[in-house]
Amino acid sequence: MLKPQVYLVGAGPGDPELLTVKAVRVLQQADIVVHDRLIGEGILDLAPPRAQRVYVGKAPGRPGMTQDGINGLLVELAAPGKRVVRLKGGDPFIFGRGGEEALHLLRHGIPVEVIPGVTAALGCAASAMIPLTHRGVATGVRFVTGHCRAGWWLDLNWPSLADPRTTLVFYMGLAHLEEIAGRLIEAGLPHGTPAAAIADGTTPEQRVVRGSLATLERAVRLAALASPVLLVIGPVVDVLVDPQLARLGEGRRVAAVVEQVGHA
Ligand SMILES: C[S@@+](CC[C@H](N)C(=O)[O-])C[C@H]1O[C@@H](n2cnc3c(N)ncnc32)[C@H](O)[C@@H]1O
Repeated sequence: MLKPQVYLVGAGPGDPELLTVKAVRVLQQADIVVHDRLIGEGILDLAPPRAQRVYVGKAPGRPGMTQDGINGLLVELAAPGKRVVRLKGGDPFIFGRGGEEALHLLRHGIPVEVIPGVTAALGCAASAMIPLTHRGVATGVRFVTGHCRAGWWLDLNWPSLADPRTTLVFYMGLAHLEEIAGRLIEAGLPHGTPAAAIADGTTPEQRVVRGSLATLERAVRLAALASPVLLVIGPVVDVLVDPQLARLGEGRRVAAVVEQVGHA
């Protein structure tokens, strides 16, 4: 098998301790690190000081390097004997455009290895104590994009999303929260469906706002949550809060403990 020249590495959602052992090893051996904006504190420091660091991040609503530009740069930087680490927030293959980058490199004959990362849905849900599936409450989970071109409607299959037993996780949904909630209600989800917004999940700045489909947008606005924000929608949001859903009898006490413990 050919030795990889470019490693597409998932950096996880923020907490550096959520990196995989393999990601740490590859970073420690990197010659060049090409990285995004949402990379947790201290993760870049794992690369040797001599390694070249190239920032190609895009901030929401601001122009950054185009995807074609990034693809081209990766091909330029990859050379036999060099280890290029393309470091991406969360997991490279979940809303990370890792597939496009891998395809471009492979088309240019450049061997690639993908090292998965903890995607925001898993990291944020764990950190906010929301089990994404829960026996008797949610039989599945869907990761959905809340992003579309400025001025456009979200082009999603709303009736298929409106299943009360499937947890919905929206990435990049902050700007369209009102539309998302409205469309899901229109498609049949009850107004009172529990919903949460998690900002800066897994980091010391993490904030969690809970409400329902009908109330979350206002609560998020009042709390002035700013990107990155992940939305979780479905009864699982209340499993560790609502004693009836959790069927633990002690749910409220559990929730109180969660609030007190916060993020370690
Ligand atoms: C372009 S997507 C990249 C997702 C990434 N590849 C992953 O697997 O998590 C960026 C979106 O992920 C979510 N996100 C990433 N990190 C987050 C965090 N620490 N807290 C909350 N949301 C986060 C936000 O919805 C953000 O707008």
